[in-house]
Amino acid sequence: MGSYDRFAPWFDAWQRAFGPPYADLVLSRVTGALAAHHPGARRVADLGAGTGDLAVALARRGFEVVVVDRSPPMLAIARTKARDAGLAIELVSADLRDLALAPPADAAVCVYTVVNQLVEETDLARALAAVHRSLAPGGLFVFETNLPAAYDRLWQGEETVRAGDAEVHRAHRRLPSGVIEAQVTIRTPDRADEHDTIAQRPWSDAEVEHALAATHLTLVAHDEFNPFTPDGVPMKSLWSARRI
Ligand SMILES: C[S@@+](CC[C@H](N)C(=O)[O-])C[C@H]1O[C@@H](n2cnc3c(N)ncnc32)[C@H](O)[C@@H]1O
Repeated sequence: MGSYDRFAPWFDAWQRAFGPPYADLVLSRVTGALAAHHPGARRVADLGAGTGDLAVALARRGFEVVVVDRSPPMLAIARTKARDAGLAIELVSADLRDLALAPPADAAVCVYTVVNQLVEETDLARALAAVHRSLAPGGLFVFETNLPAAYDRLWQGEETVRAGDAEVHRAHRRLPSGVIEAQVTIRTPDRADEHDTIAQRPWSDAEVEHALAATHLTLVAHDEFNPFTPDGVPMKSLWSARRI
C-alpha cells in the first residue's frame, strides 16, 4: 500500500484537529492567482487533490475540475464528496510525475505539502515536466512549497492528535538525504494499529526556481505567507508559473 492509503479514512478528521479545512485557508490565494495570471482558465487540474476539498470548492466556483491523486482511498473520498455536492468532477488515479492530461488543462494547482512529497532528487524536474505536458500553451501552474519554518514547527518530534474514533500519532526523523519522514500510527479502540509513512523533501526556493527554468515554466509570481496565522512567520511559498 502506498502513502496515505491507510491514513485516508482519518485524514479529514486529523486535518480538522488543527483548524478549518486547509482548502478554506488557501482558496482565495489560489483563485486570486488564477484570476490575476490566467483569467480565462476553465479546466483546472488539482494535483495531489487528496480528499477533494479544494477541488470541490473550485468546481463550486464554476471551474471544470480534474482531480489527480495516486492514493485510491483518498480519491474515493474525493469522489464521494463531489457526488454528494452534485458536482461533475473528473477523477484521475495517477502519480503526478507521470501525468499527461488529454485534453490538457488551462491551469494546474497543487497545495498542502504535495510538492514536498516529491522526495527523490529528480522528482521536482520530473513533476514539472509532467505539468508542462498536461497544460495547454500559456497554461498556469499555481503551487505551494513549505518554507523552513513549517519544518521547524510542524515536522519534528512527536505528536498525538485525536481524529474521530482514532488517535493519530506522528513521529518524525530527518534522513541523511535531508528528507523528513513521518511515521504515522493510527490507534482505534477495536482494531489493530494502522501504520503509514509520509516523507517530505524541503525544496529550497533556489531549487524550485532552477527547476522551473529548466522545464520551460516561467515564474510570474512568488509570495510567502502563513495560512494558519496570517501575521505569523511565513510557512509557505506560493508560486505561479506559466507554460511557455
Ligand atoms: C496532504 S494530502 C493533500 C491533499 C490536498 N491537496 C489538500 O489540499 O487537502 C497529500 C495528497 O497528495 C497525494 N500525492 C502525494 N504525492 C503524489 C504524487 N506523486 N502523485 C499523485 N498524488 C500524490 C497523496 O496521495 C495525498 O492524497
